[in-house]
Amino acid sequence: MSALNSTHRLQDNVFLVTGGASGIGRATVLRLLDEGALVVFADVNLDTGTATLKAAEDAFGPDRVRFFPCDVTVESHIEHAVQFALGTFGRLDGLVNCAGTGGALNGLLHTAADHWDKTQELLARSVFLSLKHAARAMIGDGRGGAVVNVASIAGIGGGAGGPAYSAAKACAINLGKSAALDLAKYRIRVNTVSPGPIVTPLLVRGGDPDGLRRAAVAAQPWPEAGEPEDVAACIAFLLSDDARFVTGANLVVDGGICAQAGNLYEGDSALGAEIVEGIRRSGEVGFDQGSTVPNTKDLGWQKRLDEIDFVPPSSVARKRVVLVTGTNRGLGKALAERIIQMGHTILGCGRDQESVDGMNRRFGGPHRFEVVDVANDNAVRLWIDGLDRAGLVPDLVVNNAALTSTPTQLWRLDHEEVEDVLRVNVLGTMNVLRHVIPKLLRRREGILVNFSSGWGREAAARVSPYCASKWAVEGLTKALAIELPPGIAVVAVHPGIVRSDTMARGFGEAAERYPTPDEWAKVAAPYLLGISAADNGQALSVPGMTAFHGIGSVLPERIAKLRAR
Ligand code: NAI
Repeated sequence: MSALNSTHRLQDNVFLVTGGASGIGRATVLRLLDEGALVVFADVNLDTGTATLKAAEDAFGPDRVRFFPCDVTVESHIEHAVQFALGTFGRLDGLVNCAGTGGALNGLLHTAADHWDKTQELLARSVFLSLKHAARAMIGDGRGGAVVNVASIAGIGGGAGGPAYSAAKACAINLGKSAALDLAKYRIRVNTVSPGPIVTPLLVRGGDPDGLRRAAVAAQPWPEAGEPEDVAACIAFLLSDDARFVTGANLVVDGGICAQAGNLYEGDSALGAEIVEGIRRSGEVGFDQGSTVPNTKDLGWQKRLDEIDFVPPSSVARKRVVLVTGTNRGLGKALAERIIQMGHTILGCGRDQESVDGMNRRFGGPHRFEVVDVANDNAVRLWIDGLDRAGLVPDLVVNNAALTSTPTQLWRLDHEEVEDVLRVNVLGTMNVLRHVIPKLLRRREGILVNFSSGWGREAAARVSPYCASKWAVEGLTKALAIELPPGIAVVAVHPGIVRSDTMARGFGEAAERYPTPDEWAKVAAPYLLGISAADNGQALSVPGMTAFHGIGSVLPERIAKLRAR
């Protein structure tokens, strides 16, 4: 095993490493930490992930590394991993796409279509997804960054993996080149490393690593077998400023195998046989079932939220000032509490004096909670001007305050109730925007979030004023996005379906299937903090929070009851 090389080329840079629990990914996590970086690694295997986290914490301390359990084939997991890195360490400087398995192993004639699809999903589509989401985060930050895709020599020629694996790796290599072109103007470099046979659990799971080493040495020019640390060293170089003029490259790390001709994968080659045998041990078609996170797709994020520490080490998080309206209860309150816990400053407001006093007593300075009715334009003006005079201009504004109306048909509602919903939800949002935007223009940066709803994108009966107000918020957001200068962005965010008091009353027992405001805030706070100027004009949703969990079965019954009233 080659020794770690202790330079500090990557000091305090933040990297996300997928597949960081094992093999090349694990060696990369340790190498980046050794070079001074802060690392979040994402992996589907809880056991090896936990073991790698412990090893990394033992060597580099608990503040510099986090494990994020995640399946890279699920887009919302990747979005979460990126937001988690931003929320934890306050920035993102790079990404390493390392998650992988052997994929479908049988020859072309015997590869089942769904095994083909699964292989592409894990080895090609996931690379696209994490590149997309990490690049968006890095563009928003404006500092540039670097990405390394771990492909394989199988992606360069045939004969070093099954056809599905080789095709997926070829996709990763070429995607690296295309992405390098797309992202150069943002100073984001994208490169690929293509390892030859490397002694990792992928190839030797349950077998003899020395057997693989001997077979590799016999088949390749270089007299020693390739170890994960050899690949990690190249990844660290490509992420560092030493490679500042290198983008769109594919660095082959194979002990010279590609420099000679030959088919490694044929059954009569000792190395080919060793590789096939090793990969077969990881499952019928080489997919790593490992101790995967159970039911992630079904349970959303609720179950595992408790297992994840979302609180960033205060020494490294970038401190931000966040203005949230309607912080006296519900989502606004939970969000404010969580953002404070993450080390940022909250400027909150609510309509009732007692709750505002309670929040001020609980949190004290630098946080400030004031009595403001957002529907009252003059009160909003005085509030935001006063904050400005105190030097408190927000980096992020969350227009959360909103009212719902009595659930019934429009013609049964009186004018006051309809007017109230529109005044708070639409005019209130506009009041805050009108008074806060001039302060952001002065500074030329800031993120504005307008809370929308599923009912701002679809229609439903008995909520028409609310529905109208949230569609208005979506339209307002899109129009304003065109007016704003670069650096300042406005987005509409569907917060998700959350077990608020109103919702619990409406859905009865079914409400139990949804996260509480506190559970929601654990995901929403880092997600909102991660929204960037590149998102301007978008209709976003807090990931993992918008799905109906089996509510379909109770909904018809519920509608029937409502109709009967
Ligand atoms: P490994 O099996 O030691 O590590 C792969 C990691 O990816 C594991 O921790 C696994 O849990 C994780 N992973 C698998 N599916 C995932 C998913 N859906 N979501 C999140 N994480 C997932 O394997 P190794 O050798 O370190 O492989 C790393 C990368 O290097 C892979 O992309 C592989 O194709 C590539 N590679 C490996 C070579 C070798 O000889 N070991 C040669 C060429 C490429």
